[in-house]
Amino acid sequence: EYTYENLIVEIENKIALVTLNRPQALNALNKNLLEDLSHFFDEALVDDSIRVVILTGSGEKSFVAGADIKEFASFDGKQGEQLAAKGQQDVFDKVEKFTKPVIAAVNGFALGGGLELAMASHFRIASKNAKLGLPEVTLGLIPGYGGTQRLPKLIGKGRAMQAIMTAEMFSADRAYEIGLVNEVVEQTELINRVKEIATKITQNSSVAIRHAITAINASDKEIGFDIEIKSFGNLFDEDDFKEGTTAFVEKRKPNFK
Ligand code: CAA
Repeated sequence: EYTYENLIVEIENKIALVTLNRPQALNALNKNLLEDLSHFFDEALVDDSIRVVILTGSGEKSFVAGADIKEFASFDGKQGEQLAAKGQQDVFDKVEKFTKPVIAAVNGFALGGGLELAMASHFRIASKNAKLGLPEVTLGLIPGYGGTQRLPKLIGKGRAMQAIMTAEMFSADRAYEIGLVNEVVEQTELINRVKEIATKITQNSSVAIRHAITAINASDKEIGFDIEIKSFGNLFDEDDFKEGTTAFVEKRKPNFK
C-alpha cells in the first residue's frame, strides 16, 4: 500500500481533486512530490472511479513555484540531465498523454516546473491572483520539464522567446488574453468552477474523449524535448548555474559574469 507524502487525493463523483501539498516550499516539486504524482497517474489510469483529474496547489498563494531549487543546487551536468529526463518521463509526459482529461486549477504562482506542469495538463483555469512564468534563466538554467516546447505552442514563438528571456511573469488576465489559461475566476470560486467543467466532461463519452486527447496530441513533434533535456543538463556545469542557485538560497540577486 502506497502512502502519499506530499499529495492529497480526494475522489468524488468520478472526479479526482489532487492537491500538491508542500506549502512550506510553495509546493515546489521535489523528488517525493514527483514520485507521488507519478504513482497517482499510474493508479488513476486503471481506476474506474476516476474520469477526470484536477491538479491544484495547497494554500492561497501558490500552485507550484517550480522544481525544488534547494534539492538540485549541488547537482552536476549528468544529474541535471537525469533530473529533467526522469521528470519528463515519469510525470510531465504522463500527464500530457494521460487518456483521461487533466485540468490544472492554477491557484497562485505557477513558475518554472509549476507552469510546465500546468502546460502539460490538458487545459488551465486560473484564479485572479495567479502569476505564471518561466524564470529559469535567473538561475542560469532553461526550463527542463518541457517549457521550451509547450510554451511556444500555447502562446506563439515570439511571446515565448520574450517570456523565457526576460523571466517575467504573466498576470492571470494577461495569461487569459494570450491563451495560456482558458478562464480567470475568483480564488474562492476556482475549485467549484473547475469541478463544474469536470462534471460536464464526465457526462460525455469517455472513449471518445480518450481518442480526442490522443489525436490532439499527435500534432506534437518530439525532438525538441530531447534537445531541451540535454541543454538543461549542460547548464549545470556552468558557473552561472552555481551563482544563480546560490543567489536564490542566499535571497540576493545573482551577479552573472
Ligand atoms: N524551490 C525550493 N524552495 C522554494 C521554491 C523553489 N522553486 N520556491 C519557493 N521556495 C521556498 C523559499 O525558499 C521559501 O523557503 P524559506 O521560507 O525556507 O526561505 C519559501 O518557499 C517561501 O518562498 P519566498 O519566501 O521566496 O516567498 P515570496 O513570496 O517572497 O516569493 C516566489 C515567492 C516569487 C515564488 C519566490 O519564492 C521564487 O522566486 N521562487 C522560485 C521560482 C523559480 O525560480 N522557479 C523555477 C525553479 S527551476 C525549475 O523549475 C527547473 C525546471 O524547469 C525543471
